[in-house]
Amino acid sequence: MENFDIYIEERTEDETHVVELENNRTIEIFLNKGSAFGSNHSTTLLSIESLKFLYIQNKSIDSALDIGSGSGILSIFIKKMSFTEVDYSEIDEFARNECLKNFKSNFTKKLKLPELVDNPLSKNKKYDLVVVNISGSFIPKNLLKISEIISNNGYLVISGFNINKENKYVNLASGINLNLIKSFKKDPWISMIFSKE
Ligand SMILES: C[S@@+](CC[C@H](N)C(=O)[O-])C[C@H]1O[C@@H](n2cnc3c(N)ncnc32)[C@H](O)[C@@H]1O
Repeated sequence: MENFDIYIEERTEDETHVVELENNRTIEIFLNKGSAFGSNHSTTLLSIESLKFLYIQNKSIDSALDIGSGSGILSIFIKKMSFTEVDYSEIDEFARNECLKNFKSNFTKKLKLPELVDNPLSKNKKYDLVVVNISGSFIPKNLLKISEIISNNGYLVISGFNINKENKYVNLASGINLNLIKSFKKDPWISMIFSKE
């Protein structure tokens, strides 16, 4: 489960991201200044596009897991879009602290914050949606385990790699009942949405 890449994205000021959904509905994501990854990188923005696609398609999602939450941006977006129960995992303690700070800035005390889960791939809990934006070998090495914690008819969103890996992931996924339903691209990056049979 380890990944030794360094993930830093410097934010010298607080930032508010505004994401437009359908029918003029917008979601605001507030990020405190900091340096955990997850704000303006294409892999993050493409992950947001994929999550937004699932929301607009009215997919039934009651529980979600954000693996490698970084700043927490994707967890915040999912929770604000749909009030779904969200868990997250993050191996970097520094990022975990920023994540928590960002959750507290985005959600009132009444709303249950996303919950930290260590080693979600070793647990039995299943999710309707898993999102993973982690580069390197983490996704290919763990794709089978990731698929095992997705409910039947659930969804997987992956990002963190280049467009030329698209076929590799389609092939890897098709062997474990994950079917590509959509991809979003911004050269050289891609995010892919799979549904689990
Ligand atoms: C590219 S950043 C993605 C952050 C955010 N989810 C986004 O989409 O912008 C990857 C994050 O995954 C974390 N990470 C790397 N390997 C991990 C693992 N095995 N389990 C959990 N988190 C991991 C890193 O510390 C980093 O914060």
